[in-house]
This record gives sequence, C-alpha cells and structure tokens, in this order.
Amino acid sequence: MANSNPEQSNVVELNSDQTWSRMRVEAATAAAKEPALASLLHATILNHETFESALSYRLAQKLADGEMNTMLWRETCAGAFANAPEIVDAALYDLRAVFDRDPACHEYMQPFLYFKGYLALQAQRVGGWLWRHDRESLALYLQSRISELFSVDIHPATKIGKGVFFDHATGIVIGETAVVEDDVSILQNVTLGGTGKETGDRHPKIRRGALVSVGAKVLGNIEVGEGAKVAAGSVVLKDVKPHCTVAGVPAKPVGECAEQNPGQTMDQSFYYETYSI
Ligand SMILES: CC(C)(COP(=O)(O)OP(=O)(O)OC[C@H]1O[C@@H](n2cnc3c(N)ncnc32)[C@H](O)[C@@H]1OP(=O)(O)O)[C@@H](O)C(=O)NCCC(=O)NCCS
Repeated sequence: MANSNPEQSNVVELNSDQTWSRMRVEAATAAAKEPALASLLHATILNHETFESALSYRLAQKLADGEMNTMLWRETCAGAFANAPEIVDAALYDLRAVFDRDPACHEYMQPFLYFKGYLALQAQRVGGWLWRHDRESLALYLQSRISELFSVDIHPATKIGKGVFFDHATGIVIGETAVVEDDVSILQNVTLGGTGKETGDRHPKIRRGALVSVGAKVLGNIEVGEGAKVAAGSVVLKDVKPHCTVAGVPAKPVGECAEQNPGQTMDQSFYYETYSI
C-alpha cells in the first residue's frame, strides 16, 4: 500500500500483529497522558488480548440500544469474526488504509475509537456476514442501526473489498447490488445508487483503487474503472474508463489520473490532457 500521508511517510508498513501492538502502545501512552480517557482506553483496547476481541467490544458498545443490548451485539460480532477471520483481516487492512491516507489520522487507535466511517464499515462487514448466513432480518436491523448511528446507509448484500476508506462518511449511501473493490476511497455524501429505472443488478461497480470524491452520485449498473477518479459533486451515469478522471453533471472525462491508484494515494489532481469526448 503506497503511503500518502506525509506525517506517516517514514513509517514502515505494519503487519496485523504489529498494528495491534502499536494500538496498545498508543492507548497506554494516551491513558497515562489523559486520565479522563483512561477508563475508555482500558475498556476498549488495553483489556483485550486480541484485536478482534477489542473490535467486537467497540462495535457492541456503539450498536447497543434499548432493543439489542451490548451482550447480544458482542456475541454477534465475535461469532462473525470467529467464523470468518477474513473480516478481521479486512478490518486491520482498513485501519492501515485510514492511517495511510488520512492526513488527520495520527494514530492507529483514532479510527478504531472515533472515526465513524471506519466503525460503520466494520459493522457493515458483520451485517454482510449475517446476510450471507441466512440471518437477513438481523442484517437489516443492523443496517438501520448503522444508519442511525453513523449516517452511513449500506445494504448488507453490498460486496465490499478490503483497504476501503470512508473519509468523514456522513451521508454515504450504497445500494444492494453495488460492488466496492479493494483500496477504494469514498468521501462524504457519496451515493452509489440505482437510476430508479432498473431492477435486479442495478448499482455501480467501483473497481480497485478508484477515488469517489465528496458529494458524487454514481447511478446505475455502471463501472468506475480501476484507478479512476470521480470529481466532487459529479453525477456519473456512464462507465468511467480505468485511470480516467470524470467531472461534472452529468460527468464527462476531463483527463487521465496523475496517479495509478488515486483511491490509495488520495491524490485529487489530474493531468490536463483533456479527452476528445
Ligand atoms: C433522472 C433519471 C431518472 C434519468 O431520467 P431519464 O429521463 O430516463 O434520462 P436519461 O437517462 O435517458 O438521460 C437523459 C439525459 O439527461 C441526462 N441526465 C440524466 N440524469 C441526470 C442527472 N441526474 N443529472 C444531470 N443530467 C442527467 C443524461 O446524461 C442524458 O443526457 P444526454 O441526452 O445529453 O445524453 C436518472 O438519471 C436520475 O437522476 N435518477 C435518480 C436516481 C436516484 O435518485 N437514485 C438514488 C438511489 S439511492
């Protein structure tokens, strides 16, 4: 994964164990420095042997309400993680993606504790597991709870890869038959929706390493190609070629991406070699 965050540019990429160890060191340091947060940091990170134990605890604390308590959510999350270790792997990959791509992220524990895009995505991964294991009603309950809590509304059947980064996340809506591949970055107020004219497979496919910028609407069963960029505020109604930048309403090609994988680098520039449309 390319490191685009200048503050982290000297950091050697960590493996899963190292990421969890690093989070624990960050939490211990923060607990010593800020006593008001010590109890939270112990309960969420330092009291846990493993990352997956901490994650199931954190998600359960967030998801619990008067209808589904913390214990029920913790068991549900822990069950998903035990049965599908790839969800835990993806959660660690996502964590490194946020740390790598978000200049405002200075510690691994930050997204884990506070970033609602990260927490919404991890809860959605549990919802996806429930959906695939014939527990559709609980998956739909979870979708609704994630939406209430984090303002992120993603159908549990949506296929989402790893290393995905939802920056700010407020207002992200992703439909049932959408696909979001590995290393994609999506900013706030993005809709990956249907046109309203199709049924069945009707939602966008966002290919590996693409960047979908703030406020963009990508509508219909169309492809945003590998390493492509969608500019802020665009309405995309047609396929976007790999490594191409589109902008406008309706969106049109405006250039080639300066980067091979803008979703990973978060580079929002493009070459001014305009296409003949
Ligand atoms: C408006 C809509 C239903 C398309 O209606 P339509 O009459 O069938 O229009 P078409 O798809 O045939 O497109 C007609 C023209 O309008 C343009 N157009 C369509 N939707 C547009 C939009 N939202 N903004 C700007 N231009 C739009 C098309 O590019 C096309 O232009 P062209 O003739 O120059 O190529 C659809 O594009 C839309 O916006 N649906 C809303 C979907 C939505 O809100 N989804 C959210 C799901 S969560």
